[in-house]
Amino acid sequence: MHATDTAMHAPAANNWVGLPPPANPALVGTRNYFQALDNFTRVFAIRPGDRVLFLADPLLDRRVIDAVNGLAQSRGASMRIYMEPSTRVTEVPKNVQALLEDATFVVSTWFCSIIDPLCIALRRKGQRWVKITYFRDLDLLHTAQARFPIDIVGALCRATAARYPKEQDFDLHFSDVRGSDFRIHFTAEMCRNQLSTNRWRGQMTAEEDGAYVHYLPTHGPNLWDHNSVKNDTSRQTQMSGVLYPQWAIGFAEPFKERIGVFFDGEYVSRVEGESDEAVILREMLVGGRMIEGGGCGFNPKAPRHTIYPAGSNAPGALHFGIDLVKPSDYIRRVMPDWEEPPVHMDLVMLDATVKAGENLLIDQGFLCALRDPEVVELAARYGDPIELLEVPVY
Ligand SMILES: [Fe+2]
Repeated sequence: MHATDTAMHAPAANNWVGLPPPANPALVGTRNYFQALDNFTRVFAIRPGDRVLFLADPLLDRRVIDAVNGLAQSRGASMRIYMEPSTRVTEVPKNVQALLEDATFVVSTWFCSIIDPLCIALRRKGQRWVKITYFRDLDLLHTAQARFPIDIVGALCRATAARYPKEQDFDLHFSDVRGSDFRIHFTAEMCRNQLSTNRWRGQMTAEEDGAYVHYLPTHGPNLWDHNSVKNDTSRQTQMSGVLYPQWAIGFAEPFKERIGVFFDGEYVSRVEGESDEAVILREMLVGGRMIEGGGCGFNPKAPRHTIYPAGSNAPGALHFGIDLVKPSDYIRRVMPDWEEPPVHMDLVMLDATVKAGENLLIDQGFLCALRDPEVVELAARYGDPIELLEVPVY
C-alpha cells in the first residue's frame, strides 16, 4: 500500500473514539446538583432554635454564607456572622469569645477551629461544628466529591477503624518504596480515645452534640492526632522514624529528590537532601512538631493530585501536619492567602503503606476498606461499587 492510501482510509489518531463521551450536563446536571444539595443539608444539621455563628474571612465566597443562612432560616434558627481579616486565626480573639460561647452551632473557616482550647471545651459541652476549609466556593456543589454519598464516606471510616487492634498496645507503621519507616505507638487507651470521635464512628454530619465535621465531607479523621490523648498537648506520644514525602503544600509539583524528614519523638530532628526543596524544608521543619499523623482522605471522588490547600483527600492519600517553630518566609512568599497560618506545613504521601499492628489499613496508597464487603454492599445501593469506590478523580 502506498503511504497516501493510509492517510486516505484511516482516520487521524485524534478522531478515534473508543470510550464514552463525558456526560451531558444538560441531562445529568440537575440530578447531580440535588444529590449534592442533600449532602449539604444533612451535614449542616441545624436544629430549630439553634444559634448559629459563622466565623468567616474576606476571601470566602459570600454565597456560601448565604447558603448556610438560608438553611438556618428554613429551620427556624438564627445566624450571626463574624469576619476576621483572614482564616489564619491561631486562637479565638478575646472579643469573639462571648459570641462563640453563646452559639450552639458553628460554621468556620478559621485555622484554630480544631485546636483552640475554648472551641474544644465548648464542643465537650455539646456545641456542633462544621469546618469549611473545602467549601470556599459555592460552585463546589457541582463537583463529584460534593455529591458522593456521605454514608459511604462514613462506612469507609468505620471499616478502617475496625482494623485498629483493640485492647492492646500496637504500632501504627508507615512505609513506602522510598524507604519511609515511621512508627507511632498506641496504647489501648489512646486507641479508644481516638476512635470514639465522631468521624471515626462514621458520623459525617453535625447532628450529634459535640460534633466536629468537615464540609465538603472529604477530610476523614486522622490516623493519629491529639484526640488520642484527649487533646492534652502536653502529653508526648512515642513516635520516631523517617518520612520521605512525595510532595508538600506550596510546591508546584512533587519533589524529584528523595527528601528525608527524620523525627525524634514528635519533633523533626533533621531533613536530608540537597535540592532547593530540601533546603527550604530543612529551614522550615527542623524543631517542628507532628500534630496530624497522618490526615487521611476518605472521599473516593476527592481529586487525588490536588493537595492545595491541605492535603489530598482521596482515599488512602496521607498528609502529615507539622506545626513549625517559627513562621516560614517561604510560605509567606508563595501562599500569602493560604487558609492556614505560615506556622504549619503538610507533607504529602500518595503511595504509603500503613499497618496498625499486623492489620493493613492502606496498601501502597489504596485504602483497604474500599473493598470491605459491608462497604461494597452499601455502595451498591447508590450505583456501581467499582465506579463509586475505585475510579479516582484527577
Ligand atoms: Fe488535615
